[in-house]
Amino acid sequence: NIIQLGGTILKTARCQEFKTPEGRKVAYDTLVKEGIDALVVIGGDGTLTGARIFATEYNYPIVGLPGTIDNDLYGTDTTIGYDTALNTIMDAVDKIRDTATSHERLFFIEVMGRDAGFLALNGAIATGAEAAIIPEISTEVDLIKNGFRKSKNSSIVLVAESPITGGAMHLAERVQKEYPQYDVRVTILGHIQRGGSPTAHDRILASRMGSAAIDALLEDQRNVMIGIRNNEIEYIPFNKAIKNDKPIDRELLNTLRKLSI
Ligand code: F6P
Repeated sequence: NIIQLGGTILKTARCQEFKTPEGRKVAYDTLVKEGIDALVVIGGDGTLTGARIFATEYNYPIVGLPGTIDNDLYGTDTTIGYDTALNTIMDAVDKIRDTATSHERLFFIEVMGRDAGFLALNGAIATGAEAAIIPEISTEVDLIKNGFRKSKNSSIVLVAESPITGGAMHLAERVQKEYPQYDVRVTILGHIQRGGSPTAHDRILASRMGSAAIDALLEDQRNVMIGIRNNEIEYIPFNKAIKNDKPIDRELLNTLRKLSI
């Protein structure tokens, strides 16, 4: 009875101790003591890196699942949680649009994605926003100005919370200073993006990946992440999933630009 829940029922979280050899020894001893003979770890870069180190030190069977709302893992089209976060963003921005339109305002809405713009870019397309400011590509503030001035009396810009973009607050201050005629507002969506009941897409994705992880362990696969690309299950070695970047789709960026004219 957990498929409809967000979060983790095991309460697993980042663990400083696990970053030390002594901490990993405690983990190994616990697994042996409890008779746990394989691990399926679910998370992003940090989780897979920890799993890779642990598996090499202890020759322990581990399979990984890509779980992050940021969708920034190589080797899979989407990660578990991403679609739910995207839909939360869509609902929130739809609501904010009512104020933007009614009062003819320019909204900067900050979404998560410390190192990745997938949520901001796809969120912008899904909500008909004017622009997405993402860490992968520097976007001219002029784009905002043109979109707002030429054809619109309200505008919405999605900003990834990354230090590279500087965040929505910083951007809004710059734009407000440069264009005092605009009625600028900022909304930071924050952790509402990381909770709630998963979408059907995420439930099916997680179920397929979980089932594939068991198959992989039974086939004696180790140190691989389960990915789904073009609807096919793939085994991606931890090294590849961690080291390779997942690029932003330029075609999506062009689509957003065209639609915002
Ligand atoms: O790494 C996933 C992520 O959702 C980032 O997009 C975001 O910057 C971060 O987690 C927030 O983490 P915390 O809850 O620790 O502030």
